[in-house]
Amino acid sequence: MRIAAQSIEEVREAAQIAEVASEFTALRRVGARFNGLCPYPDHNEKTPSFSVSPDKSFYYCFGCSRGGDAIKLVMELKSFSFSEAVSHLAERFGVELRFEGRSPEQERAAEQRNARRRSAYKALAAATAYYHKYLLKSPAAEEARRYLKERGFEYSTIEEFRLGYAPPRGRQGFVEAARGVGLGREALEAAGLLSSRGGERFGDRVMFPISDRRGRIVGFGARSLGEAKPKYLNSPETELFNKRSLLYGFPQVAEAMRREKAALVVEGYTDVLMLYQSGIKNAVATLGTAMTEQHLKTLSGHAEKIYLLFDPDEAGEKAVERVMVTAAELRLDLRVLRLPQDPADWLLEHPPEEFTDLLSGAVPVLEYGIRRIVGRARGAGAASRARAVPEVKALLGRIEDPVLNREAFRLAAEALGVDPETLRDESRSTNSMERTTPRSRARNVPGDPLAEAGRELLALVLTRPDLASGALRAGMEAPDLLNAPVVLGPDDFGDDVQGRIFALLSEHAGEDLSTVLSDERARALLDEISALQAEGERLYPSEASLRAAWFRLASLSRERAKLFTEDFDEKHRLHLETKRLNRAAVKVSNLTLES
Ligand code: GTP
Ligand code: MN
Repeated sequence: MRIAAQSIEEVREAAQIAEVASEFTALRRVGARFNGLCPYPDHNEKTPSFSVSPDKSFYYCFGCSRGGDAIKLVMELKSFSFSEAVSHLAERFGVELRFEGRSPEQERAAEQRNARRRSAYKALAAATAYYHKYLLKSPAAEEARRYLKERGFEYSTIEEFRLGYAPPRGRQGFVEAARGVGLGREALEAAGLLSSRGGERFGDRVMFPISDRRGRIVGFGARSLGEAKPKYLNSPETELFNKRSLLYGFPQVAEAMRREKAALVVEGYTDVLMLYQSGIKNAVATLGTAMTEQHLKTLSGHAEKIYLLFDPDEAGEKAVERVMVTAAELRLDLRVLRLPQDPADWLLEHPPEEFTDLLSGAVPVLEYGIRRIVGRARGAGAASRARAVPEVKALLGRIEDPVLNREAFRLAAEALGVDPETLRDESRSTNSMERTTPRSRARNVPGDPLAEAGRELLALVLTRPDLASGALRAGMEAPDLLNAPVVLGPDDFGDDVQGRIFALLSEHAGEDLSTVLSDERARALLDEISALQAEGERLYPSEASLRAAWFRLASLSRERAKLFTEDFDEKHRLHLETKRLNRAAVKVSNLTLES
C-alpha cells in the first residue's frame, strides 16, 4: 500500500518546519525566518548559516547548500525512508493518512471515517464559537462573567483561550443551534458534545476549549460555577480527544516554549491561564490525568527543559517515577517541583518574578524519584526496606545513557547511605540475574541470597520441626563462637511471605506440623508451605544443616540492615556481627562435611 499523494501534500502543509527543525538545532527568529547552526552532522559550523522559512515550509543551508521540506529534513537527519518520514510527521501533526491500493470497501470505510472526523472538527469549532459568544454577550452569562472576573482572569486571556459558557439547561443551547447550521446528531456524537443520554453534555459551565497540537479544537474541560459535582466535566474520549496525549494550552504557548526551550507542566486549566497573563507563557496543563510518556514526547520536540509542577496532595508523584526513565531516554532535563498552592492561587498573592525563584528550586527528576523510592522504604519494616534496593537497582538498570547512569548511581548510593561502588557491584550481579528472570518477585528469584537463605531455613524447619523447636523459642546457640544465642524474627527474611511463615512456626514452636497448619493464618500460605516442605526433603535435614542455615540467614539479614542504617556506629556493629555469624555458619557446615 502506498501513501496517497493527497496525504503527502497534507503532511507537507501540516508539518511546521520550524518545529521540526528545532528538534535538531537551536533556532532564533530573524524577521519572518529562523536561523541556526546547520544540523547536518557533517557540516560543523560555528556561525549560523541554516535558515528556515515557515511561510515557504522550506529550509536551506547557505554553508552546505542543502535544503528541502520537512519530509526531507526528517529523512536525512533521522535516516528515515520517505514513507517513514511521512508517517512520522503525520502522527506528529495529526494528519490522517490515506493509502492507495486498497479495496473499494476499505476505501469507503476510510472515507466515512474521514468525513466523520471532519464534521466532528466542524461541530467542535462551532461549539467553541457559540459558547464563547454566549459568555461575552448573553445576559444569562452574567454570573459566569462575574465568576471569571473574581478569579482574576482578564478579558484578553478569555479571548485568547476562547473561554466560553454553556447555557443552563432549559435555555436554547448549542445542540439546538447546531441543527440550524446542518450539524446532525452523528457529528455531535463524534465531537463528544452529547451526554450519555443523548442530550446536551455541557450545561451551566465555564468552557475551556482544548486543542490538539495543530490548534484544532478537539474537546472541552468544563467547570461548574458553583458547587455542582463534578467540578470539572471533560469531553468523553473520542477519536479526536485523547486525554493521555493532549495538553491544555499547547498551541497558544508552543512558540514561547520553543523560544525559551523550556516548558512548565501544571495540573489545572486555570493555572495555565494565570501563568500566561502573568507573563509566564510557556505552561501547559494535563487534563486531570498524571503526566504520561506521550506528553513528554510531545514536549520534547519543543523544549529541552521541562518543569513538572504538582500539588503536595497529589498522586501525580507516582507518575514521576513512571516518566523518569522516558525523560532520560529523551535526554530531557525534567525537573519536578511540589508547590504549596496551585500556581493560579499563588499568583494572586505574589508577584510573577517570585514564581521564577520558586522554579529554581525544582529538583531533577532522577534525584526526586530515587529519594522517593528510598524515602518510602525508610521507617518501614526491614522487609519493605529491603525492597527499595532492588527497586532502585531495577530503575538504574533501565537508564542507558552512561552519564545519567553514573549520576543515578551516585544519587541512589547517597540516598541509601551506601558506597556507589558497592551498589554498582551488587547491581551487576542482580542485573545479569534479571536478564534470565525478568520481573520475578524476590522470593522466586534464584540468586537473591537472602531470599534463598530464607527458603532453605524454612524448608529445613518445616521438614524437621522437632530439631528447630529450641531455636525457635530461644534462638540458636554457638557457645564457642558467639556469646549470645542468635534470635531470628520475621523481619530478618527478605520476603514478606517467608516472614509470615516464620512467625507462624515460631508461635507454634514444639508443636507438630498439623497443629501449625490448622492455624487459620496458615490457610493463605499453604501453597508456599508445601513447596517448601518438598524442598526440605531434598536438603538432608540435620541439626548441623539447620544451624548453618540459621546463621547464614542471620548474617545476610544484618548485612542488609547495614545498607540501610545511617548511623556509623551501628554500621560497624553490624559489620562485626556479620563476620562472626559467617564464621559460625562455615564452622557448622565444615563439621557436617567431616562427619
Ligand atoms: P479551580 O478550582 O477552578 O482553580 O480549578 P483547578 O484547575 O485549580 O482544579 P484542581 O486543582 O482541583 O484540579 C486540577 C485539574 O484536575 C483540573 O484543571 C482538572 O483538569 C482536573 N480536575 C479537577 N477536578 C476534577 C473533576 O471533578 N473531574 C475531572 N474530570 N477533572 C477534574
Ligand atoms: Mn486547582
